[in-house]
Amino acid sequence: MHNLSVQQLLTHQFSVLNETECSSDIYSWLVDEASMTARLEAYCQKLEVIIVKEGFIPDSELTSEEVSLIVNPAKSERFWLREVQLIADGEPWLAGRTVIPESTLQGPEASLKSLGARPLGHYLFKSSSLDRDFLTPGTLCELWARRSLLRLAGKPLLLTEIFLPASPLYPPLAKGSLPCTPEPH
Ligand code: PHB
Repeated sequence: MHNLSVQQLLTHQFSVLNETECSSDIYSWLVDEASMTARLEAYCQKLEVIIVKEGFIPDSELTSEEVSLIVNPAKSERFWLREVQLIADGEPWLAGRTVIPESTLQGPEASLKSLGARPLGHYLFKSSSLDRDFLTPGTLCELWARRSLLRLAGKPLLLTEIFLPASPLYPPLAKGSLPCTPEPH
């Protein structure tokens, strides 16, 4: 069984990282605009997506940072939440949290609700209407992280990713150790 409580790290405060605060190797991972799934796949035999949580939530269940980045104050709507872990050869390597306003799910984007265990990137990178407002490298609870505001046909979705200690971004000695204990949000 995987320790899914690491998922709570995704709702901690995101600290923006300056390029000078990490090695160029780490930075290259954090600002990689291509498929992260494909990059991680090159380091393991088998990469699986595990759904931790999926479903509609009200804006009251978003973090205040998410609210400021994605909530349109003129609209009161629900959000589709997708929380996953990428498991590489049995080890959790990445935790992801995607917040999608219900209005983004109009038209072909409705299929974002039925991705299941298919990686989000497979859908996004196939889309001819994908744009990125920003990709911000950072840390969450002392782990490498990044946050992207993406647009499909102009409609936003917010993706937060944390690289977990067993992933290839960390030196071998750090593997398996979490720098802080997750607290309930
Ligand atoms: C997802 O399927 O939700 C997903 C996959 C890979 C990521 C982030 C999210 O890097």
